[in-house]
Amino acid sequence: MSRYQDLADQTEGLIRHGTLRPGDKLPSIRQACRIHDVSPVTVTQAYYRLESRGLIEARPKSGYFVRAHLNTAFPEPEMRQPHAGSSALAVSDFIFQILDSVRDPDIVPLGSSFPAPTHYPLDKLGRFLAQAARKLDPLATVTDLPPGNEALRRQLALRYLNQGAQVSPQEIIITAGAMEGLNLCLQAVTRPGDVIAVESPTFYAGLQASERLGLKVVEIPSHPRDGVSLPALETALRTHPIKACLFMLNFANPAGSLVRDANKQALLALLRQYDVPLIEDDVYGELYFGPTPPRCTKADDSAGLVMHVGSFSKSLAPGYRIGWVAAGRYASQIQRQKLSLSLATAVPIQIALADYLRHGGYDQHLRRLRHSLLTQSVRMIEAIEAHFPPGTRLTRPQGGYFLWLELPAQIDTLRLHQAALERGISIAPGPIFSAQREFRHHLRLNFGHPDSARQSAAIDVLGELIRAQLAA
Ligand SMILES: Cc1ncc(COP(=O)(O)O)c(C=O)c1O
Repeated sequence: MSRYQDLADQTEGLIRHGTLRPGDKLPSIRQACRIHDVSPVTVTQAYYRLESRGLIEARPKSGYFVRAHLNTAFPEPEMRQPHAGSSALAVSDFIFQILDSVRDPDIVPLGSSFPAPTHYPLDKLGRFLAQAARKLDPLATVTDLPPGNEALRRQLALRYLNQGAQVSPQEIIITAGAMEGLNLCLQAVTRPGDVIAVESPTFYAGLQASERLGLKVVEIPSHPRDGVSLPALETALRTHPIKACLFMLNFANPAGSLVRDANKQALLALLRQYDVPLIEDDVYGELYFGPTPPRCTKADDSAGLVMHVGSFSKSLAPGYRIGWVAAGRYASQIQRQKLSLSLATAVPIQIALADYLRHGGYDQHLRRLRHSLLTQSVRMIEAIEAHFPPGTRLTRPQGGYFLWLELPAQIDTLRLHQAALERGISIAPGPIFSAQREFRHHLRLNFGHPDSARQSAAIDVLGELIRAQLAA
C-alpha cells in the first residue's frame, strides 16, 4: 500500500473512532511530515483523499479540520439495563456448545476471539525460544517457581513504569495466560456462594470461571463506548455484599468500550470507599488506536486494591500461554494459589519472552499491530454499513479487535449464528456474554483478520441472512 493511502487510512481510523472529533484541527502539512516521517506530497495526497471521502475540510488560511457531520450510517448501540438481582450461574454448557461450533479452520472466523496469527512475530519468537531452551540453566526450574522468572517480572515492571505505575517485580505473578490469572484472583478473594460484580455484557469465560467457583454475579450495565456504569455500580455496592469486581476497563470483550481516565480514578475511589478489590482483566490495553495508551489503574492504586491481569496472548504470542497478575496487596495469596493449582509456568517460554522484551522490538511490533487493526476496523465498518439493514447499531472502538452490533429487535442472533454456520461463517451471538442470556439481538464480530474478498463476502451473506429473518 502506498504511504499516502496508509496515512489516509490511519487518520480515517482516528476520525471514525472518535479520537479526532468533529471540528478538531489536523496537524499542518509540515507537522504531519515530521510526525509520520513522510514528504509534503504524501501528506497533501492523504489529506486530499480524506477530503474526497467527506471526512475533513480545508479552511482557507486555517488548515485542515474534521468535518462537523460525518457520514456514519449506523449509530452506536444503546446501554441496556440488566436484571438487577444477583444470580447463580448456569451458562457453561450453553457457551461451550456455541464455541465448539466455531473451531473449524475452514469457517470465516468472524466469531473468533483471536486475531490472524500472521499479525504476530512467531518466527522471531521461535528463535528466542530455541535459544532459551538451549541455554536453560537447570537451576531455573527451581528459581523460576512462582512468582516466576525474575527477568520477565522486571521487564513487566519496566513497562508499568513507562505507563506511570510503580509496580514492583515482587507483586507480579506469572501465570498460564490471563485465564489462569483471573481464576487465581477470584479464588484469592472469594468463597463459594459469594457475590461478585461483572459488567453486562461481559466476557463469557469470566462467567464460566465464576460458575465453576460457585459464585453469584450481579451484572452492572456497561455503556458500549464508555464502559461500566459507575452510578449503577455504586447502587450495587450499597445493596449487595459484593466481594470483588471483575471488569475490563480497556477495550472490553465484547463491546470494545473504554473507561475514560477520569472515570477510572472515580471507580478506584468508589472501591476504596467500600474496600472492594478490582480484578481488572486487561488483555487488550496494548491495542489502543489513539496516540497514547489509556491510563493504567495501577498508577492510581495507592491502596493495592487492584489485581491487574495481563497477557501476551493478544498482543504478542498467542499460544505461548503467558500472562501475569500485578496483584497489589493480594500478591502472596495469589502466589500460594498458583503453587497449589499448577505449581509453575513453563520456564523456557518465560525466559524467551523476557529476552524478546529486552531485545526483540516489542514496541515496534505493537505499533504495526495497532495500525493493522485500526485499518481493518475501518474496512469492516464500511462493509457493514454497505450490507446490513437500517436499524443496525454499531460501535466504533478505540482499540482491540471487536465490533459490537445491535440489530433490529426482531433478530435472534442464536438463530443467525446457526444460519451463518451453515454458510461457513461464525459469529459470536450476544447471549453468550450475559449471565441471563440477554442481548438476543446483539452480536460480536472480530476484525482482527486482514480484509479479504472472503471476509467481505461473509459480511454480505450476514446482511442477507439478517434481511431474511426480518422478512420472515
Ligand atoms: C477479556 C479476555 N480476558 C482473558 C482472555 C484470555 O486470555 P489468555 O489467552 O491470556 O488466557 C481473553 C481471551 O479471549 C479475553 O478476551
